[in-house]
Parts: sequence; structure tokens; C-alpha cells
Amino acid sequence: MIRFEDVEVVFGDHKAVSNLNLEIQEGEFFTLLGPSGCGKTTALRSLAGFIEPTAGRIHIGGRDVTRVPSEKRDVGMVFQNYALFPSMNVRDNIAFGLSVKKVSKAEQRKRVDEIAERTGLAASQLDKNVSELSGGQQQRVAIARALVLTPRILLLDEPLSNLDAKLRVQLREQLKQLQHEVGVTTVYVTHDQEEALTLSDRIAVLDAGRLQQVGTPEEIYDRSATAFVCRFIGESNRLTPGILSRLSGTGLDATAESYVRPEKLQLAGADDPSPAAAGLTGTVVERTYHGSHSVYEIAVDDATLRVSVPASASARRWDAGETVQIGVDPAWVLQYPAA
Ligand SMILES: Nc1ncnc2c1ncn2[C@@H]1O[C@H](COP(=O)(O)OP(=O)(O)OP(=O)(O)O)[C@@H](O)[C@H]1O
Ligand SMILES: [Mg+2]
Repeated sequence: MIRFEDVEVVFGDHKAVSNLNLEIQEGEFFTLLGPSGCGKTTALRSLAGFIEPTAGRIHIGGRDVTRVPSEKRDVGMVFQNYALFPSMNVRDNIAFGLSVKKVSKAEQRKRVDEIAERTGLAASQLDKNVSELSGGQQQRVAIARALVLTPRILLLDEPLSNLDAKLRVQLREQLKQLQHEVGVTTVYVTHDQEEALTLSDRIAVLDAGRLQQVGTPEEIYDRSATAFVCRFIGESNRLTPGILSRLSGTGLDATAESYVRPEKLQLAGADDPSPAAAGLTGTVVERTYHGSHSVYEIAVDDATLRVSVPASASARRWDAGETVQIGVDPAWVLQYPAA
């Protein structure tokens, strides 16, 4: 459906995107994820047709659109700052693209009413000025304005990042449901890993303009392809040489850069049967309660490991100073060639 082929974007002497190769399937919710400045917006804007790549090709639906102007690519775009027309009411904002296309007034009305309902905008809001709406409502208007034109592709650049945390989660769920209903191929840009994990069918992780990994959220999180991806996504414990030497005989490479995520470790009391094939013994330094889970900091030799334990009716708890066993399943240890 969408293909980036060796796409490169250079600004002056800075390579914002290097040799990007990606394939995005029809109907997919695809996310570009990475830290600030890694080239996410640049990649998205080249797909939208706002930036011409310095090298490489971009295809949409089998057609080479590399030199095709934005308005002929059939893409809808939603920006972080909404970019609505402040002097127009909600209805006119949503209908803007339709009126440019000379769609009849009656048809405009019908389509705006339909899309407003789908995007969760009440009929009473349509006659308001956009400046009277909250941030969340304004972003719904921006999404409605893009979708009313039934684009082949919906592009969203950090659409939720200006909203407060609670609204962000709420709108995130609605956006996912909307995308599911409408079925439009969606390319989403964010630097928020949780947003990427919860929304996406697949994620591409970028670092300094270079693609690090493409995969499902589970693949990205559980099977991070590079140490960068492992450190960027979620939390992880770096295993020191001392800890690795204690895990000898498990098939792990003691010279590799090694990580394990806090919830992949198992805790047990000092006298309990060993919780996993390989184990470490340590002392609880601190326990932090998070409601749904607790995080233990455990001193093992010269290292401190974080272990996350889900809350449950039967979950045992350990206090600072207690000796515990940490079960390590080598299958969950992520290893990378030493830098
Ligand atoms: N028009 C431009 N002219 C010069 N340099 C630019 C331009 N646009 C982006 N850059 C540079 O290219 C790099 C990638 O920028 P880009 O906006 O794509 O990053 P991003 O991943 O979207 O970051 P953020 O999360 O902060 O939005 C940055 O170093 C940026 O400074
Ligand atoms: Mg950006």
C-alpha cells in the first residue's frame, strides 16, 4: 500500500532521514516512534508530499508519488497543534476541504453530520467557534476535517501530545476504535512509547534518521532488535558482568550487552523452591507500591535489579532488608553485541 524505498532527506549538511525502507499494508495502523529529532515528522511530511526526498522513492497504492504534489496524493493530515481556522465555526472547519472540492451544500451538511457523529462531536458543537472548544474537542474537529474527505491514508503527527494525560488516554482509545471502524490506512507519529504500543498494528522505531526495527508491539517490546530499541521502549535492567557470571551455564553470552525487563524476573522468598531455572540471591532495598503492581529494588552483588510484581489477592510482599531469590528465565534476557 505504502512503500518507502531508500528514502533520504537532507537539510543542509544534516541527514534527517537515511535510507528508509518501509512497507505499510492496507488498513494498517502503523506508527513511527523515536526520540525528538529522529526524523519522524520529516518521514511523515515526505509521505504527505510537503517535503521532497533528496533521494529514493515513495509509492502509494502501487503508484510512484515521489514527485506528485500533496493535494494529488489523497492523504489526510492531522497536526499536533490542530491547525484549525480560528475564525470559522466547527462545521465550516470540517467542511473546508469539501467546499474547496465544490461539493454541494446539501452534501457537505450530510457528510459533516456523519463524520461529527463518528468522531464524537455533539451536534450542538457544530455551530460553535473553534476557539470555544477544549483541546480534546479541537483535535476531534481536526480529525473529522481530515476524515470527511475519505482519504486513502490518514497521517497523524503527535495529535494527542498537547492534551492532558487523562484526555490523551481517552482520545487514544477512541482514535483506535475510529480507525478500526473506518479502516483507513493510518500512519501515526509519536515519541510516546506507551501510545505506540497500545495503538499500533506495527511500529517502526527510528533513531537519528535510521530505522532500528519494524514489528508488532510485542516484537518491539519483547524481542527488541537493537540495544537502542531495548532501552527506548519500556524499562529494562542492564545485567552487569558480575550478574552474568552468576548466570553461567544458562547459555547466555557473558560478553554481550544484556538486558532483562523488570516484569520478566520472578521473586520468591529465600526458603521457597527456586522460581526459575536460573536464579540470583539478593536483598530488598526498597519496594514501591503502584496499585496494580509493586516494584522492588534488589541489591545483587554490586548491582541493583528492578523487579516488577503484579498485585493480586494472594501476592506476597517483601520488606526492605529481606533476602529474596530472583528467578531469571534466560529466554527473556535480551543480548546485543558489546559496543
Ligand atoms: N526544515 C528543516 N530545516 C532544517 N532542519 C530540519 C528541518 N526540519 C527538520 N530538521 C531537522 O531534522 C531532524 C529531524 O527532524 P524531525 O522534525 O523530523 O524530528 P522528529 O522526530 O519529528 O522530532 P520531534 O519528536 O521533536 O517532533 C532534526 O534534527 C531537525 O532539526
Ligand atoms: Mg516531529
